[in-house]
Order: sequence, then structure tokens, then C-alpha cells
Amino acid sequence: KRPVRVAMLGCGVVGSQVARLIQEQADDLAARVGAPVELVGIAVRRLGLARDVDLPADLFTTDAEALVGRDDVDVVVEVIGGIEPARTLILSALAHGASVVTANKALLAEHGASLFAAADEAGRDLYYEAAVAGAIPIVRPLRESLAGDRVTRVIGIVNGTTNFILDRMDSAGTGFTEALEEAQALGYAEADPTADVEGFDAAAKAAILASLAFHTRVTAGDVHREGIAEVTASDVASAREMGCVVKLLAICALEDGPDGPAVSARVHPAMIPRSHPLASVREAYNAVFVESEAAGQLMFYGPGAGGAPTASAVLGDLVTVARHRIAGVRGPRESAYADLPVLPMGST
Ligand code: HSE
Repeated sequence: KRPVRVAMLGCGVVGSQVARLIQEQADDLAARVGAPVELVGIAVRRLGLARDVDLPADLFTTDAEALVGRDDVDVVVEVIGGIEPARTLILSALAHGASVVTANKALLAEHGASLFAAADEAGRDLYYEAAVAGAIPIVRPLRESLAGDRVTRVIGIVNGTTNFILDRMDSAGTGFTEALEEAQALGYAEADPTADVEGFDAAAKAAILASLAFHTRVTAGDVHREGIAEVTASDVASAREMGCVVKLLAICALEDGPDGPAVSARVHPAMIPRSHPLASVREAYNAVFVESEAAGQLMFYGPGAGGAPTASAVLGDLVTVARHRIAGVRGPRESAYADLPVLPMGST
């Protein structure tokens, strides 16, 4: 059977685990997809720097443009992060007929609309389960499982690094810097951890969650954002005395706007009672609490960051888009989303 050919962009914390799993689980993947899944190239910034993966040296290239420009590539997996060159490379991959799997929340939160339009034009898939809350299945549930329901609110702990820091400050009295260093060593933090600490990472994920939950377009810039840099040890201690815990929450809601339904999205530290289900989310775990009209309350919980957990979500997408390639079908058309107005913070 003709293999499904996969090219990877990036081989860092997540990419190296994706490459490892593609190699180690080749037989299972072939059985689930219905054809062998073959890794044909990995673009990296510099040769010799890829994390400890046992892969043939000739798979690696520094020429990402040439890799995505190959006509024999069926799926491009983008795990380099950031806006450029990821955006240009994904557009090129789609234009050359590849389906795309990405973990890139910052890119989707800013340029989702144009990327989904490009995927539609190319008739290809653009899947991104790993972009929000690592291993937790939350993109598909919102986009597909709950598509017949009416989601009214999503409250998430969607940044592992800040949850890890706040948890350490609460449970062990660890200082902010020490906890951040620990999170970095464990591979949870972004390349620039200010994206975690200042709430940019959570705001990007909030934008993606709000877009999915309410079938609209919310960008990172629409999200009111406040990080945890101002949270002090004494804030955490006072919360504890009051039977509460401090968490960085992403809150997305469907509201009554002045002219009909509208969306609000915000990220900020909040005190929550220890009895709340979100209070039990420890370390770098994430959780997303969803309220919808018919289903009621749902909670999605699991590892939200780190190489292997995030790679699990990437591999799931890879299997899905590979199955679609073989069946000659594609997933939901997200460019068809309507645009609900986004309410400014404090308007409701
Ligand atoms: N830096 C992110 C986090 C990684 O800490 O959650 C997962 O997106």
C-alpha cells in the first residue's frame, strides 16, 4: 500500500517525541491508518541540535521551504511554534497539496481565519488538537462532539507553566523564580517564558477555545489578558487562609450583547474555593470546564504541557488526517464560521 508521507517542521521538546512515536509505533499507526506512515524529512534550524532521537541523519534538513515544497508529502507536522516562518511554511504546505497538523496556538490565535481559508481553498485538513491544553482532547469535542449543542461557557486552566508555579507557591511555599526554573527544566515553558507568565499563551488558547465553542472568530488581541507576574507569595497565603487557591483562568462566555449574542474572553488570576473542581488541578496539569445547554457541565482534564503528552495529541491528528487522505475526505470547514461580536472587558 502507498505510504502516507509525513514531513516535520521542528524537532524540539514536542517534535522529538512526535518523531520517536512515529518510528516506535509504526506498526500500530499503519494498522490504524490503513497504510504505512513514513517520515520523509525533518526541518530544523541547525543540524546536529535535534533532541535525543534515534533517527537517520539524512532525514534532517535546514531547508524547510524545500521540504514543504515537495509534491510527494501528504502531511506536514508543524512544531516550530511562533508566527514566522511557521505561517508561510504552512501556507506553502497547503498550496502544495499537503494536509497540516500543528501545535501552534500563537499562530492560530492570530491568523486562524486566513489559514482555515487556505486549507479550504486547497481542500486539505488543518488540525490542531495539540494547540490547546496539550494531551487533553478539547478541540475535537468542541468542534465536533458538541457541535449540535449550544456551549455557553468555557473556563480553563490552559497554561501548565503558570499552574505549576502557582501550585508550588501554594503547596510548598516555593519562590516564583525557582518554580519557573523547575517548569522550564521539565519542558513545560515556552521558549520565552514571559509568554506563559504574562498570560499570552493562555490568551492565545482562550481565543482558540472561544472560536471553537461559539463557532466564531476570536483572536488573541480580543482577549483581555492579565498574567501572574503580580501574584505574590502573600496573595497565595491569604487565599489559602480563606480556603481558596489562586489559578490563572481563561474564561470564555456567550453573552447577551447590545445587538444579540456576543462573546467575551478573558485571562486573569482568580481565587477559587478549594472545593471547586478546578482547584484540584495540580502541577502542570490543565483542565477545561465546559457548560452547554443540553449536555450541562463537562470537565476535560489531563497533562497540558510537555513533550510526550503534546506529541500524543499531534499523533492523534496525524492518524485522523492520514485516514482522511486515504478515504479522500476532509474534516470540518472552519472557515465557514460566523463572526459574533466580541464584547470588551467589563461590558457585562
Ligand atoms: N508553555 C505551555 C504551557 C506549553 O506551559 O502550558 C503548552 O502549550
